[in-house]
Amino acid sequence: MRASGKKRGRKIAPPAIAARLNARVTLEAQADGSIAACFDGYSAGLGKFSAEAIDRAQGLRTGLPFDRFASSSRNADEEIALLVRRLAQRGLLEYRLEDRSGEKDRVVIEPQVADYWPQTPELGSAETIVLSRFAYLRRRGNDMILESPRAGASFKICDSKVASAIAALAAPQKISRLRRQAGFPGLELLGLLVDSKILFKVGGGDGRRASEGDENLVLWDFHDLLFHTHSTEGRQANPLGGLYPYADVIAPPPAVRPHLPGKKIDLDPVSATTAEANSPYVKLISERHSTRDFDDQQPITLAELAHFLKRTARVQSHWTSKLDLDGNGPDVAFTTRPYPGAGSAYELELYLAVANCEGLERGFYHYDADRHALVPIAAGAQELELWFQGAEYAMDVAAPPQILITIAARFNRISWKYSSIAYALILKDVGVLTEMLYMMATDMGLGGCAIGTSNIDLFAKMTGIDFHIEGPVGQFALGRGAKPA
Ligand SMILES: Cc1cc2nc3c(=O)[nH]c(=O)nc-3n(C[C@H](O)[C@H](O)[C@H](O)COP(=O)(O)O)c2cc1C
Repeated sequence: MRASGKKRGRKIAPPAIAARLNARVTLEAQADGSIAACFDGYSAGLGKFSAEAIDRAQGLRTGLPFDRFASSSRNADEEIALLVRRLAQRGLLEYRLEDRSGEKDRVVIEPQVADYWPQTPELGSAETIVLSRFAYLRRRGNDMILESPRAGASFKICDSKVASAIAALAAPQKISRLRRQAGFPGLELLGLLVDSKILFKVGGGDGRRASEGDENLVLWDFHDLLFHTHSTEGRQANPLGGLYPYADVIAPPPAVRPHLPGKKIDLDPVSATTAEANSPYVKLISERHSTRDFDDQQPITLAELAHFLKRTARVQSHWTSKLDLDGNGPDVAFTTRPYPGAGSAYELELYLAVANCEGLERGFYHYDADRHALVPIAAGAQELELWFQGAEYAMDVAAPPQILITIAARFNRISWKYSSIAYALILKDVGVLTEMLYMMATDMGLGGCAIGTSNIDLFAKMTGIDFHIEGPVGQFALGRGAKPA
């Protein structure tokens, strides 16, 4: 018996997901059976494998379907499954869904987070799905890419029919209805997109902003969440940092703006008197500089750290104000702190990774600015090491700073009030606080250096806080500077 409405011969086997080596990766096998992945001048050991597994691993160049090795108990299949896992952990794989001919890619999944693994949650006929408001399609070279700042992977859409089926999901659609439509993209792809939060299941809601995720997610504007994930490390695989990508095609922009043609008013003759020029603050400004090497024989002390934090970040007082929304608004709590902050929101929190501080154990801490106290966080030793390594890499030094201060934002504190400008305000606040940290370090005879990148995914793992709730937006290395050689 055939189900009514289904035409004979239309039902085809679902396309299998295949694991494939990322285009810049090659596998090299040694005579002793060990395999290494080679990419960008690096080589990563993947362990020893049998001759049969090494032979089958060649299939990873074009793609090995999961169903051929994932649930098999054959030795060589188990070995391939292990090899695939190891490659995936290092971000060296992509995954393809092939077209009906089995020859062309229909969709290619490009992992963006370190531990991405394709999952296909079940979708029942009675369930309704819709596109996330954070999802978008864009052109990249000659490709069409489906992405979302919430997704652990980007989806390269190689078949325009798939793009059109996805576009139709702008409005909630029931699975049973979708399955009957001509361009149905298949449950497997839809499952992968649900797993990546590019689609979501509509429960009781209408699929709009309030039905997707928790309150903290509701408060994010689309462009702000995209900016956050794409201007930090951890949730994207794009090249990042000082890479000079256009140095060979565009000349370096000038250090100083070419002057305007108008007649200048010379300020030198009217500038400050000697007394003003020698004020303590002017002296401090002229002494400030970045310090990247620290004196680990004489590390910063706990007492110095306490003074530093008190004068830069401590909550000084509390106050409340009634929000005037037609006389009906809630009471909103505020604090005062040593530095200015947009809307008096004071959304920035300080987290301290301590490598070398006299009187304080190595570890990860939150600075409780209200109680002026440090609260330990049970981050793993390996994660802490990676955290320090990120700072060493950013400062191009061989040792960690004595204290690595991470400035994290409680995003909802700002976005509850501000539309469109929330994330921009947070970054401006980071600039203000960073200057404060520089000046205080200088005043205390300590050294410091701002750091421009941090890994938001690693921070989420260390704190257990979701990346969209609270996350790093700045960093500052602090310690007693090494004496010049
Ligand atoms: C927002 C910001 C990000 C920075 N990021 C880095 C960084 O990642 N690595 C680094 O070594 N220095 C970093 N710096 C420090 C600058 O390189 C430094 O301020 C600049 O070279 C001027 O030198 P000075 O601070 O000694 O006057 C950063 C500074 C700022 C303000």
